[in-house]
Amino acid sequence: MAKGGFGIDIGGSGIKGAPVDLDRGELLAERLRIPTPQPSVPESVAAAVTALVERFSPCGPIGIALPCVIKQGVAHTAANVDPAWKGTDAASLFTELTGSAVVVLNDADAAGLAEMRFGAGQGRGGVVVLLTFGTGIGSALFLDGELVPNTEFGHLQVDGHDAEHRAAASIKDDEGLSWEQWTDRVSRYLRVLEDLVWPDLIIAGGGVSRRADRWLPLLDCRTEVVPAALRNSAGIVGAAAAGHEGQQADTA
Ligand code: BGC
Repeated sequence: MAKGGFGIDIGGSGIKGAPVDLDRGELLAERLRIPTPQPSVPESVAAAVTALVERFSPCGPIGIALPCVIKQGVAHTAANVDPAWKGTDAASLFTELTGSAVVVLNDADAAGLAEMRFGAGQGRGGVVVLLTFGTGIGSALFLDGELVPNTEFGHLQVDGHDAEHRAAASIKDDEGLSWEQWTDRVSRYLRVLEDLVWPDLIIAGGGVSRRADRWLPLLDCRTEVVPAALRNSAGIVGAAAAGHEGQQADTA
């Protein structure tokens, strides 16, 4: 029988969850998406998560990804979710409400775990960086396959700006940039990143990885850049894997 888990990916606009086959890194059922309650305060989001969990009644532990720095289950930042998350013990809140053992981790870290195990990073050692280009820019850093959690490379300063305010995928839409204009900004960002971290591989994730053919060939940086393979299920799969392993990704 397949090793099963349950993963939930919480974003600013939607909460997505599904049971996951952890041998293959695939969803075992179509993912369920419910709109993120507004305001997205911890109590309302936790109630929505509980409703989602009740729809599937998973029997094992659950992994939940949030767009926050997470240390020992506590959220320390809040991007695209209500600031009330800062200082919230998310792991305890979700465990109490769902009645399941819950592991909470950063959303990009979850996507990175999934890509390293089942996607574009499989078998890749050395320094690997996964970046998710979406509303913001999320990052996950791996050294020989081991996650270094909570890197937050989306907030690197590039030419006096927070990188995600210049090069997130949402900025392309907001400012009506062409693929060429937006990719120029991503190249500039990657050159700053690679001068600091010297990765062996960069995995480009987030919704825009679906259009990788439009922009990856235009990139001008020295590191090999490949598109993510799991697309929009990466956060769910990685969260489920972390939940199954039953440990916080940042345990000291
Ligand atoms: C947050 C990260 C998050 C990323 C993607 C950034 O703004 O600081 O924690 O991983 O957005 O959601």
